[in-house]
Amino acid sequence: MEDISKRITYLRKEIERHNDLYYDKNNPEISDSEYDNLVKELERLENENPLFALSNSPTRKVSGFASSSFAQIKHQMPMLSLDNTYSKEEIIKWYDRIAKKLSGNKIEFVIEPKIDGLSASLTYINGILTIGATRGDGQIGEDITENIKTIKDIPHRVQIKYPPLMFEIRGEVYVNKTDFENLNKLMLENGQQKFANPRNAAAGSLRQKNPYITSLRNLHFFAHSFGKIDGKSFESQSEFLKFCKECGFCLQDDLKQVSSLDEIFKFIDIALNERDLLNYEIDGLVIKVDNFLKQKDLGYTNKSPRWAIAFKFPAKQATTKLNKIRVEVGRTGIITPSAILDPVALAGVTISHATLHNFEEIERLNINESDIVLIERAGDVIPKIVKVVTKNSEGFFKAPKICPSCNSDIVKKKEEEVAYRCINPDCPAQFRRHLIHFVSRDAMDIEGFGISLIDQLLKANKLHVISDIYRLTFDDFIGLDLFKEKKANNIVKSIVLSKSRPLSKLIFALGIRHVGEKGSEIIAERFNTIDAIFDASLEDFKKIPEIGEVLAISLRDFFRNPSVCKVIDTLKAVGVNMVEPNKEKSGSIFNNKVFVLTGELDNYARDSASEIIKSLGGKITSSISKKTDYVLVGKNAGLKLQKAKELNIKVIDEIEFDKLIGEENVNLQR
Ligand code: IVH
Repeated sequence: MEDISKRITYLRKEIERHNDLYYDKNNPEISDSEYDNLVKELERLENENPLFALSNSPTRKVSGFASSSFAQIKHQMPMLSLDNTYSKEEIIKWYDRIAKKLSGNKIEFVIEPKIDGLSASLTYINGILTIGATRGDGQIGEDITENIKTIKDIPHRVQIKYPPLMFEIRGEVYVNKTDFENLNKLMLENGQQKFANPRNAAAGSLRQKNPYITSLRNLHFFAHSFGKIDGKSFESQSEFLKFCKECGFCLQDDLKQVSSLDEIFKFIDIALNERDLLNYEIDGLVIKVDNFLKQKDLGYTNKSPRWAIAFKFPAKQATTKLNKIRVEVGRTGIITPSAILDPVALAGVTISHATLHNFEEIERLNINESDIVLIERAGDVIPKIVKVVTKNSEGFFKAPKICPSCNSDIVKKKEEEVAYRCINPDCPAQFRRHLIHFVSRDAMDIEGFGISLIDQLLKANKLHVISDIYRLTFDDFIGLDLFKEKKANNIVKSIVLSKSRPLSKLIFALGIRHVGEKGSEIIAERFNTIDAIFDASLEDFKKIPEIGEVLAISLRDFFRNPSVCKVIDTLKAVGVNMVEPNKEKSGSIFNNKVFVLTGELDNYARDSASEIIKSLGGKITSSISKKTDYVLVGKNAGLKLQKAKELNIKVIDEIEFDKLIGEENVNLQR
């Protein structure tokens, strides 16, 4: 019993401390989901041990408070919080509860995004924006009227002719992803600390003593609820939202009306898939009973309405210990640090590595081994370290002075980039990276030639130069770890196959600085043969519209380098193709047609569908615009499909796609 009491006291203190860091200091130490877990645990302990329940426990009140550095504003109606959950089972339970209470009548819902921002209340008197306030503790907020007036999405005078005498719109002030990145760059340039997330950036920008600073921050606002209204009433949330639109407020495009659990879950899945495509951060969805009479029947708990629930998406941030900083030598000799972490669950996967970008970043974050760090995983990218939460070490981790692979001196080339480099051309670590890149799928695509095989061949002294790959025979493989007859035969076949890859793949495989896949294709299509590329002058490179000065110089220097000539000569000698096949099949249906792929395809991997389109003269882009000719859709397509319809772009499914490309290609390429 004593333990429970101690734990409850600890949790209350800890939650209050995190509330202060989050709401007042805009500088959270833990992720939202870690915070939610603390609250859930406290709620559970208080429910199980009612003796210890306290009326001012953080579980019973709306978090946050109004800072005394702003004038205070008492909300005419309290600004409440939302009950939230990460689990679909909880949504089912919530649905069952309200369905029971509403005695089986059909329920319409509105689903809105839960934008990660700062809530604000706007009071309009006779249609004119008069007061802007933060939520504060839900009862008393901060007067930020002048700051609110700098936000372009917020009308100073509503656009309707006969506005209600007085009304209070509530919504979320937020910073979009692009502005967040730019703002953080600016903060760094000015020697200030970066914001940990867009929500902190919005809060830090809005709670400024000087409204001019707020005006520079490009804040946005979306309306989601209201407080007191004199002179108008609404029947439903959707009617209220329509009213907001008429007044001149921005609404989110992805507003959705549904009437069943199935539809709720369908929409959740779509939103989860497309979350990273949006230009603003959403941390979940809010599901609201649409009809206001029904809302009234359902009522409120002391801190949130029963008629709404927030379904929160898996966390993108977590805290963990940085155990070690590993230093690796890349293909071009650049030394990059990466973090090895205590494994931690994040957005459904276990994370044990994070990128640290470069040594300047390490210095900026003042990071060292043993520190406790906040990590973040946005989209599919490798997680990154946002900041140090607890410093367990002295100072920051310094770049090594000698190459960890070949012991040569490390050089810092200031004029180029923030890069520490090993400039030894014979550095084994660089060669290993070069091999890994050369055989990779987007380069010479040697199936089965993975990192462990490369390491075994290097150890067995079978690879000294790139072209050695093509001299390997069955005997070199048999006897290696896990290589029996079949596997050895297959890898030999893969190596032979890779000799006939188009020139563009070879150019990409060579790993020229600043030249990616697209660049390699452009160069190969322009010159057609490797000999023509060797003969090209700087001017010839510059003539290509897509190639700028830096790239042209990089190309010229690369192909003038005698060791590159040697590599190419040896590759020629082993029979590697040096020509770009002519892709323009005249009369082909995809000639110069622009495609966008979206959703999950049943019969094609994304890459193979893209390859087919490209091989028939088509182009692939990632976003839809008026220039798009076709959108190939698979299952669970969402926003892109919607946009395609809006722009009247031809949408085709797999069956139509198969028809277009003809049976021959289907059989060939799948
Ligand atoms: S409705 C009575 N709708 O989330 C509930 N809130 O965790 C009124 N939020 O303080 C809020 N998106 O600031 C509502 N679509 C949305 C929202 C939303 C974000 C914020 C809101 C609230 C907090 C609760």
